[in-house]
Amino acid sequence: MQNIPHIPVLYREVIATFENIQEGIIIDCTMGYGGHSSMLLDANPNIKLIAIDQDQTAIDFSRKRLEKYGKRVEIRKGRFSDVIKDVLHEFDAKEIKGLLADIGVSSLQLDQKERGFSYESENLDMRMDKDAPLSASQVVNEYAKAELEKILLEYGELRNYKKIAAEIVNNRPFTSAKELSETLKLHLPKGKKIHPATLLMQAIRIEVNDELGELKSLLKSIESAKLPNAKIAIISFHSLEDRIVKKTFAKWAKSCICPPEAIRCSCGNNHQLGKVITKKPIMVQSDELKENARSRSAKMRVFQMAVEE
Ligand SMILES: C[S@@+](CC[C@H](N)C(=O)[O-])C[C@H]1O[C@@H](n2cnc3c(N)ncnc32)[C@H](O)[C@@H]1O
Repeated sequence: MQNIPHIPVLYREVIATFENIQEGIIIDCTMGYGGHSSMLLDANPNIKLIAIDQDQTAIDFSRKRLEKYGKRVEIRKGRFSDVIKDVLHEFDAKEIKGLLADIGVSSLQLDQKERGFSYESENLDMRMDKDAPLSASQVVNEYAKAELEKILLEYGELRNYKKIAAEIVNNRPFTSAKELSETLKLHLPKGKKIHPATLLMQAIRIEVNDELGELKSLLKSIESAKLPNAKIAIISFHSLEDRIVKKTFAKWAKSCICPPEAIRCSCGNNHQLGKVITKKPIMVQSDELKENARSRSAKMRVFQMAVEE
């Protein structure tokens, strides 16, 4: 038995969302260490699972973990924004019964200091895909001050983003996340629950991996494919991501897509893709929070695509 380095978040709620699927395909866009993937395969013995990840370490681990399911699992390496297009091209949309995305980093990515995601890391990397062209070093050492300010404000929600950006520019080059967080220590927020450098690391990580761009692109592909009768579940850990999911699902649930200022409907009033199942996001229960402190900010939203007529 392998040691499992990541506890799947909202596991009961994910299983309940995708229960009783008799046949067809579920796509796990963020396979990670295969936690949700294996639960979905166990809970739905006749489905096939397509599991995507861009991290080779996660793929190597999960290939072994999911081996026992044989041909029921297909693992694809790449960014889900790209891979999803191929999958939707290859399979009939009607075959796809569910899609899960558990956005963000895994515990192992955070814990393996050499990956650069931790404020204690001795390097500045943070790439989920080690072959990706942009690393944290380029963001920190090469981005213009205005670009850094934007990232720190939007992705890190750091109030003194201007001061932090100025300190980065004045003190660079940096060679490690440790050096960066030590140097900026005086200017970072002193939270009770999280380390002062957590939001700074989060902001840089989101930029390096284009996490918001990835999410938007995934939602766009789902919208174009329509996926009749499928359930779409997205778990996010950042308010900006949750806002994107909430707004997109609300748009999908609308029949009329005319601009609000239009006096008369001219769009055909037939654009509704389905309905939002979660009026409010699903969050972890207290027992799960005790087991897994990192799950505290997880929010899951679920959309049910309409049955094709
Ligand atoms: C939070 S973990 C998922 C954990 C997984 N649900 C489990 O139970 O083990 C997120 C995983 O998604 C991957 N990932 C994040 N964004 C991705 C993207 N845009 N394309 C492909 N993989 C991505 C990360 O490499 C990481 O392994």
